[in-house]
Amino acid sequence: MRELVLTVNGRSVHEHVDDRLLLSDFLRHSLGLRGTHVGCEQGVCGACTVQVDGRAVRSCLMLAAQAEGCHVETVEALAEPDGPLSALQDAFRRHHALQCGFCTAGFLMSLEPFLRDHPEPTEAEVREALAGNLCRCTGYEAIVEAVIAAAREPR
Ligand code: FES
Ligand code: FES
Repeated sequence: MRELVLTVNGRSVHEHVDDRLLLSDFLRHSLGLRGTHVGCEQGVCGACTVQVDGRAVRSCLMLAAQAEGCHVETVEALAEPDGPLSALQDAFRRHHALQCGFCTAGFLMSLEPFLRDHPEPTEAEVREALAGNLCRCTGYEAIVEAVIAAAREPR
């Protein structure tokens, strides 16, 4: 066990964790942030993507202990429970960019930092940015449309 101090969704967190605990399990089971989904648990599907110090990271490939002192954001940080959706979430809703929704949190958490770095992305850049996230339902077209719309439309 070790002491772990970090910031999660703007809140200071102080917990005791097993050295081998994955960040994905820490977020879901220790903190109850179940918006982060776990699919393959081997770095392939992207469903578990969160942001660590502003960068998209697969939380199934990172130990909770490695997040010591970091700022971690999960999909729950994108909007308040009763507040408006983020621009990207709203674009996903309007463009039907999700069906079962299992992959959606991972896409959103990968794409938010991408849009910060690429405020006017081309379709090719969006497709490249999506390459690390798998979706079994949508065929990706609507996701690409949503990302481009979120970049173009006023927030
Ligand atoms: Fe982490 Fe699939 S659950 S990449
Ligand atoms: Fe079902 Fe993507 S919406 S896996």
